[in-house]
Amino acid sequence: MTTKKKWTVIPGFLALAAAATLLSAYSGASSSQGKVVEQPIKFIHNPHVEKVGMNCLYCHSQANKAMDPGNASVATCMGCHTLVKTDSPEIQKLTEYWNKKEPIPWNRVHKVPDYVQFPHMRHVNAGVTCQTCHGEIQKQGAAGVGEGYKPVEQAASLNMGWCINCHVQGYNPAEGARLAGLPDSVVQALKNEPVKKARYDCAVCHY
Ligand code: HEC
Ligand code: HEC
Ligand code: HEC
Ligand code: HEC
Ligand code: HEC
Repeated sequence: MTTKKKWTVIPGFLALAAAATLLSAYSGASSSQGKVVEQPIKFIHNPHVEKVGMNCLYCHSQANKAMDPGNASVATCMGCHTLVKTDSPEIQKLTEYWNKKEPIPWNRVHKVPDYVQFPHMRHVNAGVTCQTCHGEIQKQGAAGVGEGYKPVEQAASLNMGWCINCHVQGYNPAEGARLAGLPDSVVQALKNEPVKKARYDCAVCHY
């Protein structure tokens, strides 16, 4: 960045700081942090990620390529569940969708307003781990589909102050790796990695 460019950023930053303060005062009411929604099938991440060792991209295969991460087709699920746990009522529901050739109408949990653009691929390719924003998804459903079942929860506020805070302060790779449950050796190795900052002028996120 040239010196000239650096200075032109400052007035913008002040306006932004003011806007962010205003918004964060307001965000307590608008935040949906902790939000959960019921799902047509009690899908649980834990056995897939921690027992089977599936990568997030196995099902959310567009996360490093597109704005939206996408989700597994019923055919992908059935690749295992024609054989795995067929006695489970949840798998029987899955099989019904498969037999009817219908997609599963998953209910959306994380959502930013339409006037905000959130490109998954930019974050994923910059090395920001999913768990930095979505919490420890790999633990979701560790108690199974019975009494202890908990659906996916919105881990962060997703409000403007939250986005800008990271863009300005920078993403900490060691902290991101820790949240992703990566081995301690990996976390330690990232300790001296510089934080990754991103642009924060209004037009970056607003069309
Ligand atoms: C076996 C396929 C599969 C794998 C592997 C998987 N997911 Fe999912 N994920 C799903 C399905 C199906 C849903 C929709 C049901 C739900 O929300 O519980 C979902 C929902 C989500 C949601 C909530 C989406 C929303 O509506 O906001 C997030 C966030 C998420 N997954 C992140 C991850 C992350 C991070 C990983 C890796 C640690 C991962 N997933 C691995 C299948 C998978
Ligand atoms: C690579 C194989 C594989 C794929 C693909 C897969 N699963 Fe699974 N699934 C498993 C395994 C293994 C378990 C754990 C079974 C156990 O507890 O014995 C499991 C458990 C489940 C359970 C919990 C069932 C219960 O009663 O405990 C649900 C629900 C489920 N899967 C739904 C899905 C859905 C929906 C998809 C597609 C989005 C999917 N699975 C894709 C292997 C897979
Ligand atoms: C920098 C924060 C951040 C990171 C990193 C991130 N996400 Fe998201 N995710 C979000 C936000 C914000 C939304 C809501 C986006 C929207 O409404 O357009 C979202 C939405 C989703 C959804 C629901 C989208 C839909 O179309 O149904 C899934 C699934 C998801 N993320 C999975 C993942 C996975 C898997 C990864 C890692 C490979 C990941 N995310 C990394 C912030 C993040
Ligand atoms: C890093 C991404 C990002 C940047 C940069 C950004 N915004 Fe936002 N903005 C968001 C998100 C996400 C929301 C929606 C969530 C919320 O209301 O906090 C939002 C919401 C808003 C809203 C609606 C507030 C409401 O509560 O209805 C206004 C107005 C706004 N932004 C103005 C601005 C202005 C002006 C700038 C530049 C000074 C800016 N934004 C920069 C992400 C961003
Ligand atoms: C935990 C840190 C973190 C959070 C939270 C975060 N971002 Fe980012 N964002 C980044 C990083 C790192 C990049 C990548 C910059 C790069 O590629 O050089 C980025 C890039 C972007 C870009 C592309 C910027 C460009 O130069 O074109 C947009 C747009 C964006 N983020 C929007 C958002 C919005 C909207 C939110 C909130 C809903 C958000 N981000 C939350 C870290 C974050």
